[in-house]
Amino acid sequence: MSNNTIAVYGASGFQGALVLAELDRRGGTVILAGRDAEKLESAAAQANLTDAEVRVATVDDGAALVAAFRGADAVINCAGPFTPTGARVVDAAVAAGAHYVDTCGEQLFLHEIYRTRSAAAESAGVTVVPAATDGGVPGDLLARLIADRLGPLAELTSVHRFGGDAAMSRGSIRTMLGVADTMADGGVAYLDGAWRPGPFDQLAPVILPGGTEPVAVGSFPLQEAVSVPRHTSIRNVRGAVEESTRALFATPLTDDMIEALPMGPTAAQRAAGTWTIVLDVVAVDGRRARGVIEGTDTYGTTASIAVEAARRLVADPPAAGVLAPAQAFDPADFLAALTPHGVRWSIDID
Ligand SMILES: NC(=O)c1ccc[n+]([C@@H]2O[C@H](COP(=O)([O-])OP(=O)(O)OC[C@H]3O[C@@H](n4cnc5c(N)ncnc54)[C@H](OP(=O)(O)O)[C@@H]3O)[C@@H](O)[C@H]2O)c1
Repeated sequence: MSNNTIAVYGASGFQGALVLAELDRRGGTVILAGRDAEKLESAAAQANLTDAEVRVATVDDGAALVAAFRGADAVINCAGPFTPTGARVVDAAVAAGAHYVDTCGEQLFLHEIYRTRSAAAESAGVTVVPAATDGGVPGDLLARLIADRLGPLAELTSVHRFGGDAAMSRGSIRTMLGVADTMADGGVAYLDGAWRPGPFDQLAPVILPGGTEPVAVGSFPLQEAVSVPRHTSIRNVRGAVEESTRALFATPLTDDMIEALPMGPTAAQRAAGTWTIVLDVVAVDGRRARGVIEGTDTYGTTASIAVEAARRLVADPPAAGVLAPAQAFDPADFLAALTPHGVRWSIDID
């Protein structure tokens, strides 16, 4: 799989740097793309990719963006927040005939891309897999593995949990601020076989792994609610986080406060941060299952997932269109590729 060319848009950011490092580790040709030549040159130097091509294009210049992606087999878009500009990067990648993945966690943007970009991707013969992140891929793949064991599903509730003092990058905080309203009302959930906007009914407290007492959880705009119904027969999919996390995300911050923060967590902070996704599932026949998938280092894991996804799209293209992770990749095989990065999963059926 070494003979591929992958363009990274937003290569000058915190997540972009980790994606560049992972691409360098895996081999292949890298193109650094973004809006600022100086920052891109500096990112190339820091990643030891001084021979890599740097291509400058703003999101407002569609022709330049397509030219930036021309010749690439795949694009990894790390330029968040995605809600204001991400669709233009998707369109340019598709127009350039390149597969596309991104590091987006903004649920309504993902929902929009699934709904509106499939026809163009199909015509171009390329595959778009949004949310190639720690929050977007593991839960979707695990949900599919549970459905393979239980058959048609009635309910899935996904709870994402962050631990070990997980620290966020400046870009993540800026992104979350931009979707504060969506986070407050829960985004969209899949209820009675259709996507519906929040606010939603309160969820019952849940006992999370390692705990003995139920903890309060609140609706949250997670990827599984928009991706799982695309590949699995199911009536309801809801996303949630602990209420304490919701409160943290709702903390008001000004631009000045964000700019004063470091660009992102240090390597030690990243390694100390944990993420856990808990999927509580009820099958149509009444059987219940819990799937748990967990790891450390949100940003490092996201780099591994985005690069793994892009390389798989190039090496073994699935159907063209906008696909959920479990439509594009073999779930168990993809998760096995994340084991060396410390990702572990289990499924318990009652
Ligand atoms: N699980 C998840 O959901 C998950 C995990 C990891 C990352 N993420 C997301 O990934 C994104 C990137 O995070 P980060 O920490 O790398 O942020 P960052 O350090 O602020 O980097 C953002 C990058 O995007 C570029 N960019 C931003 N707005 C742009 C625009 N309008 N036009 C062109 N380029 C633009 C920036 O370019 P300049 O350098 O020129 O400013 C920079 O290269 C965030 O949205 C974050 O939420 C999500």
